[in-house]
Amino acid sequence: MSANATPRHIAFIMDGNGRWAKKRFLPRKAGHRQGVKALERVVDACEKKGVEMVTFYAFSTENWARPQDEIDALFAMVAEFADTRLKEYVARGLRIMFMGDLAPLPQKTRDACARIVQAAKDNEGMIVNIALNYGGRDEILRAVRRVLQSGVKDVDVETLSDCMYTGGLPDPDIIVRSSGEKRLSNFMLWQAAYSEFVFRDELWPDFDEKTIDAVLEEYASRDRRYGSVKRLD
Ligand code: FPP
Repeated sequence: MSANATPRHIAFIMDGNGRWAKKRFLPRKAGHRQGVKALERVVDACEKKGVEMVTFYAFSTENWARPQDEIDALFAMVAEFADTRLKEYVARGLRIMFMGDLAPLPQKTRDACARIVQAAKDNEGMIVNIALNYGGRDEILRAVRRVLQSGVKDVDVETLSDCMYTGGLPDPDIIVRSSGEKRLSNFMLWQAAYSEFVFRDELWPDFDEKTIDAVLEEYASRDRRYGSVKRLD
């Protein structure tokens, strides 16, 4: 049985920032700050491996229930990240996209996101996709509404896929969740149809290149059948 090729798209549910901070008697936002560093290590590692797209679940539609100061800190971090590290990514040819409803975000964060997307628009490197105020059910509803608005009487998988934030892009081959939790938490529900799930015990701030090596090793050993009986190779 031959190993799976390099995955085209890996999506990450970044969990465990709070626990990382708590273990060190630090505020939760210190955990998120380390989480951003882990995200940077993961982007570098995935680019090195030739992955075409990485997606990060940074803020869910449910995360508004968190304390306001944590929410404020997270969006300030996103704005700062867009103005600094994402600028470097753009300079080295990476593409940047955001998925989710950005309208309720602070203006400063929205402006920083819009600027970076514009700056990266002609790039052709790995896509860095950041999910902000994202929910899988919301995304499916939004897609259905877009289809209904177009006035068609029927809909197929391809049409609906094209109406997702990821329209025209590959579905995640792997969805990785950190910190030992084994849930999808409203993440990429449509796109996860045939994704391989990899659950790691490390907290997100501890993710590094070695973790990515382990994820890829695990993926290579999986038998992807897409509903058929047995792989032919
Ligand atoms: C889950 O851990 C983490 C989040 C909800 C936020 C993830 C965000 C980042 C890593 C920073 C994003 C910033 C940029 C610049 C993209 P948790 O807080 O639920 O951890 P816990 O379960 O241990 O409490």
